[in-house]
Amino acid sequence: MDKIVIEGGVPLNGEVSISGSKNAVLPIIASSIMFDDPQNEISNVPDLEDIKTIKKLLSSLGAKIEDSRENNRIFIDSSGINNYEAPYDLVKTMRASVLVLGPLLARYKRARVSLPGGCAIGARPIDFHLNALKLMGAEINVDHGYVEAFAERLKGASITFPIPTVTGTENIIMAACLADGNTEIRNAAMEPEVDDLINALNGGGGDIKRDGHGRILIKGVKQLKRLSHSVIPDRIEAGTFMVASAITRGDITINDINVAHLKPVTEKLSGTGVKIVINSPTSLRIKGSKVIRSIDVTTAPYPDFPTDMQAQMMALMCVSEGLCVITENVFENRFMHVGELIRLGADIKVKNNFAIVKGVKKLSGAEVMATDLRASASLVLAGLASSDGYTTVSRIYHLDRGYEGMENKLKNLGAIITRVKGNSTVNQAHEEIHEENITAGEGV
Ligand code: UD1
Repeated sequence: MDKIVIEGGVPLNGEVSISGSKNAVLPIIASSIMFDDPQNEISNVPDLEDIKTIKKLLSSLGAKIEDSRENNRIFIDSSGINNYEAPYDLVKTMRASVLVLGPLLARYKRARVSLPGGCAIGARPIDFHLNALKLMGAEINVDHGYVEAFAERLKGASITFPIPTVTGTENIIMAACLADGNTEIRNAAMEPEVDDLINALNGGGGDIKRDGHGRILIKGVKQLKRLSHSVIPDRIEAGTFMVASAITRGDITINDINVAHLKPVTEKLSGTGVKIVINSPTSLRIKGSKVIRSIDVTTAPYPDFPTDMQAQMMALMCVSEGLCVITENVFENRFMHVGELIRLGADIKVKNNFAIVKGVKKLSGAEVMATDLRASASLVLAGLASSDGYTTVSRIYHLDRGYEGMENKLKNLGAIITRVKGNSTVNQAHEEIHEENITAGEGV
């Protein structure tokens, strides 16, 4: 298994370009199941493990997928779908595989999708998805770890989610798109990724409107024509690079972003003392400050602070001046990174869904293990801030699920970071890093 080795303490400088959003592209790829055109086209698709997984899933259903690296495009022909099952092997690798449930049911009247089970950050059931589909007239049976769903034709319904669910909202939007009549979703998720799906569907003949209060209205249509969409930038990748600048006291310009989507993150980060300059609606510059102020962070659905940025903010708070409380309100078990950050010298105590972080003067390099996608990003960030020794982050496959070429992007900003391939040793990486430094030094 690959590892990442970092020699921290270097301020990051320069420009970085942000890739397409993982969480936006996954439902959009799933939605291609419902489009009749053999040339559905999605651009700005990031090269990630999760994207490989969803492409594998669609291929196993009978879709044909072609990649074109020009504009990071993919072409999908879903007209040959002849299998309706998302197997356990794929769903356990990536929970978002459940996003094929709504489209399969709407277009092919049936779906068999493995239940995802628990995961590192919590129980994460899909009961809200299933209850909503039942309200739309689907017959749902759960047997042998699989959801089996049937509906001759789904019908519009009025659905209120108990709490906003991102993939639940997306599954129901897609199902309702080809249903008979109108569907109203209340307390729907308001994340920009949901809007991107709505735009993709409307662009191909869907009729979906949302108000600014978590209400979505979907008029069922007979047919969706051609999917042709460019995916929004990844706000979580962008936020992670903003923290990279703050934590290394660097100066990074972040390009190819949607500044508006980053508002909850820029507002919070501004409170720590960093200087943020908005260059344009698609670019900002963030300059770290010598003193990082402690600030409390509370996660909640959009437009509040994203749970997917909680671990990265915690890494930053580890080297802040003072004490803060981080409250995790979305997932019950999303503090797996705490123990690893403590290995790097952090001072954190967890009580229920609160983490009390007392800033320390310095972190020091150590061997740590990634437990989930965003936890792995927080460990890389903490490694970049560790001013003494090497940090080795193992189980880096979590990072590869959601960050496109992260270590190369960081390297371009001046980070001393290298990937250790499965069979080489960490000592070899230390030597490699050392040699690279000498060579870089010689050039100056
Ligand atoms: C999505 C994102 C994930 C992000 C999360 C919250 C994708 C592919 N993943 O995950 O990166 O961290 O939103 O912003 O977009 N819940 C239930 N029953 C359900 C559905 C959800 O109890 O049927 C609960 C969950 O356990 C969680 C909360 O609702 O506590 C919100 O989860 P949800 O928004 O559904 O997360 P995902 O869509 O899985």
